[in-house]
Amino acid sequence: MNDFGFDPLDPVVWQNPWPYFARGRDEFPAYRHQDTLARSVSVFRHEDVSAILKDWETFSSSSPADMNEGGLGELASLMAEDPPEHTRLRDHVRGAFSLAAVKGYAAAIERLADEILDELLERGTFDAAADYAGQLTARTILTVLGLPASDWRRIREWTVRGAANVTRSHFVREAEPEADRSVEAIFTEMAAYLDGFVHQADALPDGSLLRSLVQAAPGADRLSPRELRALAALTLLAGNETTTTLLAGAVLTLEQRPNQARALRAEPELAASAVEETLRFRPPVPALPRRATRNLTLHGVEIAKDDNIVVWLASANRDQRVFSEADQFDIRRGLSPQAISFGRGVHTCLGMPLARLEGRIGLERLYRRTRAIELLEPSPPLVLAPGVYAFERLPVRVTP
Ligand code: HEM
Repeated sequence: MNDFGFDPLDPVVWQNPWPYFARGRDEFPAYRHQDTLARSVSVFRHEDVSAILKDWETFSSSSPADMNEGGLGELASLMAEDPPEHTRLRDHVRGAFSLAAVKGYAAAIERLADEILDELLERGTFDAAADYAGQLTARTILTVLGLPASDWRRIREWTVRGAANVTRSHFVREAEPEADRSVEAIFTEMAAYLDGFVHQADALPDGSLLRSLVQAAPGADRLSPRELRALAALTLLAGNETTTTLLAGAVLTLEQRPNQARALRAEPELAASAVEETLRFRPPVPALPRRATRNLTLHGVEIAKDDNIVVWLASANRDQRVFSEADQFDIRRGLSPQAISFGRGVHTCLGMPLARLEGRIGLERLYRRTRAIELLEPSPPLVLAPGVYAFERLPVRVTP
């Protein structure tokens, strides 16, 4: 009966997972992976994905004590916690990422996008993922935290390598001690880097996120240095490769469909709507992991306490039971409230307003300032990482 064989770590599957998702939704709505080291079940339908994400009591974000929490170890933070601890941590950063707070960054992001484009348009040929989207998002998030924007290459390297690890452990068939050690080394380096700033918070720019977290009002529930470092690391990791993938994914999806690219160039105000459609059509976070807290049965599949459940947002967003013409990319579709690209429930993405703003400005500036964008690889290779649908590279040639 199990002839489905969906393996997200197979490069051929990962390059084009959409037919697998369609079959998963129709024939294997809950699918137990065979031969994986961890006991993992993938879930494909919109209705199930949404329900699981909302039910944190049955589907926990924390890992069993004997497992390395999502590979983050000492840097694990609110994303790997359940309420009430999750609520406490989230309350500290909620305000900093609100729509109102984030609007204040718009002018700075616009300046940054133009500064980066000045150089790239001069060059003519560049990597739209690393050189444009990656640079824009890394420098933005460093600025928000109050860290030196000039460190962006280092941060980018850490986040790219870190992102490749997310959700991977659910699908591997053999232990990968060397890869695990290399990821651990990144997180150790990153922790040391962040510690330096946490211990000298007075030197950080006024109003920056990290400084305000460190200098919480006396008497308030203060975060420990370990919690501060982990929150800063989470913000860097969660806000970087995801937003890069959104912007780069928009460019790729548009340029693969010349009529859509023409529509955006004719009306750059459509950028916000194009960002929403990219989020639905090609969500940067295609899958999220959870852990069952009790035995249950889903679509006939028996799930034991502590089994891993991987919900596929990328599949939910193409579910024809919910979206009309789900496989069509149409930048005029605009916001799809049913899309699950930023998650659901208590862990819904904190950086959502910032990601949308960066995506909109990054796309609009690029299309306003170019007459044509040519994809130098029509189907660029993707990083083999079930947690982020990211690019190895996205080489383009532009005509200013
Ligand atoms: C297009 C870009 C982005 C996408 C697609 C995205 C997606 C997501 C998703 C799906 C979750 C839910 C995780 C879960 O339920 O386990 C999440 C959580 C989170 N995101 Fe984002 N994200 C993006 C950008 C950002 C940015 C720019 C930041 C910060 C600056 C950020 C910070 C966070 C944080 C802190 C969490 C954890 C929230 C919690 O556990 O309560 N994200 N994100």
